[in-house]
Amino acid sequence: DYQPVPEDKFSFGLWTVGWRGVNTFGEAVRPPLDGADAVRRLADLGAYGITFHDDDLFPPGSGAAEREAILTRFRAALAETGLTVPMMTTNLFSHPVFRDGGFTSNSRDVRRYAIRKVVRNIDLAAELGARTYVCWGGMDGAESEAGKDDRAALDRLREAFDILCGYVREKGYDLRFALEPKPNEPRGDVLLPTVGHALAFINELEHPEMVGLNPEVGHEQMAGLNFVHGVAQALWHGKLFHIDLNGQRGVKYDQDLRFGAGDVKEAFFLVDLLETAGYDGPRHFDFKPPRTEDASGVWESAAACMRNYLILREKAAAFRADPEVAKALEAARVAELAQPTLGPGESLGDLLAEDLDLAAAGERGYHFERLDQLAMDHLFGVR
Ligand code: GCO
Ligand code: MN
Ligand code: MN
Ligand code: MN
Repeated sequence: DYQPVPEDKFSFGLWTVGWRGVNTFGEAVRPPLDGADAVRRLADLGAYGITFHDDDLFPPGSGAAEREAILTRFRAALAETGLTVPMMTTNLFSHPVFRDGGFTSNSRDVRRYAIRKVVRNIDLAAELGARTYVCWGGMDGAESEAGKDDRAALDRLREAFDILCGYVREKGYDLRFALEPKPNEPRGDVLLPTVGHALAFINELEHPEMVGLNPEVGHEQMAGLNFVHGVAQALWHGKLFHIDLNGQRGVKYDQDLRFGAGDVKEAFFLVDLLETAGYDGPRHFDFKPPRTEDASGVWESAAACMRNYLILREKAAAFRADPEVAKALEAARVAELAQPTLGPGESLGDLLAEDLDLAAAGERGYHFERLDQLAMDHLFGVR
């Protein structure tokens, strides 16, 4: 009956179920959600983890005593339910001070404040046992070209991560950073817009091994890219540290629909990939329950994220176990791609000495349509 259990490793951002529905045109439609209450609700639904930005848990401007009181209640709810905090992150976007970004604001004092804000929350992340620290630099970007020196921005972004990695090493924390790319929104153009840009950036860091990715379904799709291919490449580089699951339909504003309620076929192959490629991190949902929903709709929507994942997991497993699919994979030569192009002991000379019957090889069909339709049949539930 697709009832999630903690072993499924489903986690949710406090800002997702806690989203009050404020958007560009409309004000809040739902009351604030208390962190400790969210912990209990999520645990009841079968999740294993909750994640949050500093400001999600502590209203900005909270004093030390207020922070401690909130934390005490939050920790008690975690202890009572067994829910974990696998990931934490920082809000470097809401306050007006971040209107030109955090780590890459043109204002040096703002950049220094942004790093302080992250370091403070990293200490809490380590204390709560989080292993991943997500950095989404959505406000780091531009609406114009003239006002932003992109190469200097990349220098400052690298500087920030070198400082932060140095801090984590110095403290001996068991924590890795995960960059979250996004092409636009809230900035007209965001720095590190795609998985590919972020992967290349990581190579320029002092400690590239400490930094990976937190790709989000909708963000790659907002750029018109295939998310499954992006995740496959992140896995290939050993950089899939975390993942944001949600739904998006096409190249438009960031929809953050519940997982599955977007490109269903891509969701099917994403679950297939995560379940077969050895990814053992959290299945983290970063969605926004639509403004139409009251509190009951919020929890309905959260439960549906997990339900859709479990349904797709079952369907993907059935696809892989289907003998017809095995034959179709064979006909499509899928396994042949895993064979090295040069055989053991062979050299380029052997390859050069060979000839290919161009006419025959050029006539070869690949039978991908039959294979892909078998996947669709499983997805539709007619096999
Ligand atoms: C978005 C982003 C954010 C980030 C979050 C974590 O909606 O564009 O996905 O939700 O994931 O801020 O830092
Ligand atoms: Mn969003
Ligand atoms: Mn998003
Ligand atoms: Mn996200």
